[in-house]
Amino acid sequence: MNFDAIFLFTLPTRIYYGYNSINLAGGEAKKCGMQKILIVTDKGVQSAGVITPLLQVLEAAGLAYDIFDDIPEDPGTQVVDKGVELLKRTGCNGVVIIGGGSPLCAGKGIALLAANGGSICDYEGIEKYKIPPLPVVAIPTTAGSGSEVSASFIISDESRNSYKMTIRGYHCHPDVAILDPLLLRTLPPHQFIISGMDALTHAIETMCTNQATFLTDTIACEAIRLIMKNIAAAAYTDNLEAKGEQLLASTIANIACGSAKLGLVHAMSQPLGSYHLAHGLANGILLPYVMEYNLPACEGKLSRMAEVMNTAKPGMNSSERAMAAVAAVKELLRKIDFPDRLPHDVVPKTEISRMARIALGRPQVKFNLRKAGEREIAAIYERAYQGWRY
Ligand SMILES: [Fe+2]
Repeated sequence: MNFDAIFLFTLPTRIYYGYNSINLAGGEAKKCGMQKILIVTDKGVQSAGVITPLLQVLEAAGLAYDIFDDIPEDPGTQVVDKGVELLKRTGCNGVVIIGGGSPLCAGKGIALLAANGGSICDYEGIEKYKIPPLPVVAIPTTAGSGSEVSASFIISDESRNSYKMTIRGYHCHPDVAILDPLLLRTLPPHQFIISGMDALTHAIETMCTNQATFLTDTIACEAIRLIMKNIAAAAYTDNLEAKGEQLLASTIANIACGSAKLGLVHAMSQPLGSYHLAHGLANGILLPYVMEYNLPACEGKLSRMAEVMNTAKPGMNSSERAMAAVAAVKELLRKIDFPDRLPHDVVPKTEISRMARIALGRPQVKFNLRKAGEREIAAIYERAYQGWRY
């Protein structure tokens, strides 16, 4: 282990997990100083009735609330403005978010903008705000984004062709995350799979960065083990234990990448978002191609992954174990019937050079252990159009 460098690991979010942990939401909101709450969610969560236990808990705690459920996929600046306007008009002083990645990002944006004013675009980048956001309690209803424990969130800027801005800051960690597996019972299988592949990508690629540490690798390994074991059962069956482990895995994967950052998969999936390819879908397609590209620089890390994936066989050398980790991810993708290539009809192949230029400008590129320039990134896209199933 390397003790020559000094590493830091922090996580300010209080995390509760367990069946019916949603019952703690009222008490936790009060502890954060909330008197009147803006609940941020989306219409799908509302109509599935997932929000009902939260309302009961807040009412039992004597907390007043208003509901903002107008959150689309990939929320933009206008949604954040609308949420802030509602929050101010109704006199709310805190935000409770219940939903997947989109409500989590929008709610974090509303809490930040309500405290600081102006436009959410003013805060693009790292710690551009002067005042910490209003308090936030985050209750995920999908298992993937990990935004409930992250310092960053993403908002689309409509004035820049829906460019996805990243806003990041230590104070943007939610104050509290409540992980209740019972809230995932009605999540459709395809959403479980797509968000689960985002989580697996967080765990795998955070081990292949130059920011990875003993602590982040240890956490990421456990996330990989849990996701490989549970994703199919969590998505396609009523197995509540699998859903709970998948939820925990997605949270801890994000705890790891919050410190150790991400790599080429996330850099390369960003431009695919402009074609409305879902984030988890794009990441899941790109993941095996980037793992293959990373093999020469990440043999030890991939070899360790093979062990937690239970795919390393006695007698295999490090290189064979590393290749076995890539094969295990492909096997999982085959098992869950995940696409193996980028869809030509959604993202034209002629876009490769433009996408490669955008990806190269993403901050994750400099964290990826194997260096990549525009030509290498374009070559990975090229392979991702060919597919690995042949
Ligand atoms: Fe992601």
